[in-house]
Amino acid sequence: MTTSRRILICDDDDAVRSSLGFLLSKAGYLPNFASKPDDIIRHVGETTFDLILLDMNFSMSISGEEGIALLKHIISLKPDVPVVLITAWGSVELAVRGMKLGASDFVTKPWNNVQLLKIIETSIALSGKRDAHTRVSAVRTRSQDFPGIIGEDHKLLEVLEVIKRVSPTHAPVLITGESGTGKELIASAIHRFSGRKDNPFVKVNLGGIPASLFESEMFGYKKGAFTDAKSDHRGRFERANRGTIFLDEIGDLHLASQVKLLRVLQDQTFERLGDQHSLTVDVRAISATNRDLYSLACAGSFREDLLYRINLIHIEVPPLRQRVGDIPLLAGYFIDQATTTYSIATKTLTGEATEWLCSQSWPGNVRELRNIIERTLLLAKSDVIRSSDFITALPAGKMADMQQTAAAGTLDEMEKHLILETLREFGGNFSKSAEKLGISRATLYRKLEKHGIQISRNE
Ligand SMILES: Nc1ncnc2c1ncn2[C@@H]1O[C@H](COP(=O)(O)OP(=O)(O)O)[C@@H](O)[C@H]1O
Ligand SMILES: [Mg+2]
Repeated sequence: MTTSRRILICDDDDAVRSSLGFLLSKAGYLPNFASKPDDIIRHVGETTFDLILLDMNFSMSISGEEGIALLKHIISLKPDVPVVLITAWGSVELAVRGMKLGASDFVTKPWNNVQLLKIIETSIALSGKRDAHTRVSAVRTRSQDFPGIIGEDHKLLEVLEVIKRVSPTHAPVLITGESGTGKELIASAIHRFSGRKDNPFVKVNLGGIPASLFESEMFGYKKGAFTDAKSDHRGRFERANRGTIFLDEIGDLHLASQVKLLRVLQDQTFERLGDQHSLTVDVRAISATNRDLYSLACAGSFREDLLYRINLIHIEVPPLRQRVGDIPLLAGYFIDQATTTYSIATKTLTGEATEWLCSQSWPGNVRELRNIIERTLLLAKSDVIRSSDFITALPAGKMADMQQTAAAGTLDEMEKHLILETLREFGGNFSKSAEKLGISRATLYRKLEKHGIQISRNE
């Protein structure tokens, strides 16, 4: 470290202050100390710190209200200085309240030193860049810097700018957006732009793991841990060591597994099933979901503490219909890809075909656009593609309905109509209908709910 960063350690426990001080100076930081609220406020007012480490559980106030009051005071004095909270494991709620007030991260006692240093490093790195003017720099971010990610819309460029900024840090990232918007593509770009790029990128679909298999899948097991455990097995976290774990569909994770995930993200430590021995890994977590985790948290089906653990950085990927200008670029890209993959002659789109693509609502987003283009190219006889080629490549009836509804009603009505038509086409089969629509089954369920469509389930 070239210039020492100054960190204020706020804790009323002498032993904690000295051990943290020792840890931080060994890591090249310049620790300062304060033990009483008055002292803390005075220090914060007088000195410029790069970071403040604040214990929320002062012994004189069990409720932690004093910690919250202090935090508010600190933030009002120095809104740009990152504050990392320390709480007891039992009072993570306090940390969550603190995060809502603007704290930058939290650790729970007893903390893992490596993890704590990483959090400090990340919070400082992010705070320095927080004031960078995103809009101006977004113009400078070019999608050419991101092989495989196509688009020029400023909404997408802003996403790419955030990717650039956060990739080199260890910060956990939450990517939200509708199905097919490119969440996985973005997660892998963050990995490729990070110092972890030469280590594994391990993807886990959390929606697909039954609660009963969560631990063996994520943490692994020792030979003999259960009847079928014929040999030792490494879990996903172990395989992702030094790399990135991509926690896809995190909104579909059962409550019972959420607490287990929280623990490992918190401490980076876990045990294989049937093994007493703890393993420590160095893994960066990127999560994705098409669900609204804040609503789920309000409804009690997603742990709030887990939400704050995973979303230090939140990237919202806009649906394709909000970046219509990118549709022609994406279409060109998918045509090039398909002609290469299937060794077919190059095809061009007529202006009218491009216009047609731009006028559709794409509930399945980029994935749906890619599927339709591929299907059309494979079926088209001529080298010139017209909108009628797209329409004929789709199941009879569907497009005619789509256009009719488009003329008659709103996007919402059109979506409802398309869903009903697709379900009818597949005799109510959910998996097939979802696949055809280019969306996940979970999204299909939600859309049915949204449109008040009641149907007996047929997988
Ligand atoms: N901006 C983009 N440029 C090129 N391809 C994209 C883009 N966004 C999405 N895709 C492609 O669309 C498909 C769906 O993307 P994916 O990342 O799996 O979406 P999600 O995880 O949000 O459902 C993938 O084939 C992906 O490569
Ligand atoms: Mg996905």
